[in-house]
Amino acid sequence: MASLMLTDCSSSTTRLIPTNRTNGAFLPRRCIGQLRLSTTASSRAGCTLSISSSSSPSPAKVIDGKAEAKKITDQITIDVSRMKESIGVVPGLAVILVGDRKDSETYVTNKKLACKSVGIKSLEVLLPEDSSEEEVLKYVAAFNDDHSVHGILVQLPLPSHMNEQKILNAVSIEKDVDGFHPLNIGRLAMKGGEPLFVPCTPKGFIELLHRYNIEIEGKRVVVIGRSNIVGMPAALLLLKENATVSVIHSKTKNPEEITREADIIISAAGQPTMVRGSWIKPGAVVIDVGTTQVEDLSARSGYRLVGDVCYEEACKVASVITPVPGGVGPMTIAMLLSNTLTSAKRIHNFE
Ligand SMILES: NC(=O)c1ccc[n+]([C@@H]2O[C@H](COP(=O)([O-])OP(=O)(O)OC[C@H]3O[C@@H](n4cnc5c(N)ncnc54)[C@H](OP(=O)(O)O)[C@@H]3O)[C@@H](O)[C@H]2O)c1
Repeated sequence: MASLMLTDCSSSTTRLIPTNRTNGAFLPRRCIGQLRLSTTASSRAGCTLSISSSSSPSPAKVIDGKAEAKKITDQITIDVSRMKESIGVVPGLAVILVGDRKDSETYVTNKKLACKSVGIKSLEVLLPEDSSEEEVLKYVAAFNDDHSVHGILVQLPLPSHMNEQKILNAVSIEKDVDGFHPLNIGRLAMKGGEPLFVPCTPKGFIELLHRYNIEIEGKRVVVIGRSNIVGMPAALLLLKENATVSVIHSKTKNPEEITREADIIISAAGQPTMVRGSWIKPGAVVIDVGTTQVEDLSARSGYRLVGDVCYEEACKVASVITPVPGGVGPMTIAMLLSNTLTSAKRIHNFE
């Protein structure tokens, strides 16, 4: 029998509850109906979960990022094959990984598998933790000159002895499929600016909002997190979509008061279950970008991924929500493949 994982949002403890499976897939997640929450006065403490016999449906619609990503990658597969047949070019993505961080290794493996599944050629360079900045720059330069490479990705974070900005600056702007080059970010920030590439994670959840017909223009959006990778480009992209944007970070006072004003909450803080139900305006849209690995000895990998949002509570209040995993994550990879294909098309002037 399969198990449904439940998280106690106050303490990140995990319990396993038996549930049904159909055709090898878990039934769609519902957070209330199956669950009863008892919350005490303190905002981050005292939320416990237990099974309830109630069968009322969850009010929040769960966004299926995996299904949308599949639609996108199916189209990419067709385009890659059309390009190969028409002009004999196969899009290529080069990945540089420095060090042996387990999470980075997993991301790189997943990207490699994703490339393979759509027919994009992938090249990778694995360098030891104590490599010099010059070595990394040497590979970046080689990939910049390699005509079979249309996208270059330097897996972040780099070891602390390296100057991340210097290395990202060295990636050719035409092959910057991660969208982290200062020129691409600068163009994203400028009114009327047209970046060649937009960072994959924000691009991915904006695509999800569009695909689910969720209006962004004129809405009050709160972005939690201001990193170069997610929070900051997300805020810039949302401004381009004509949202009114507030950004919350670790020094923000009373973040819950600010999030409670939001029509759309984008959380990218990397703080498991930080966003409680009480932080959310009834009917708001909640996009959970956070993915933190939490030890789980019952999982084959020994860990599981937990989002920033207390999913079980949020489902009760939000109108739409993304799950973790299966929400924003698959879209990030789909956008990376899409950016690589776009780059190859642009370089070879292929429609
Ligand atoms: N699903 C995906 O495809 C995907 C892709 C990328 C990242 N992620 C996940 O998204 C999360 C964020 O990634 P990142 O690279 O942006 O992380 P990061 O570089 O650590 O940035 C985290 C941001 O959150 C803010 N923050 C941290 N704790 C906070 C708190 N208690 N209250 C308010 N703000 C807080 C930080 O504020 P300060 O600036 O003040 O420090 C910072 O701006 C991580 O869980 C990561 O794994 C997911």
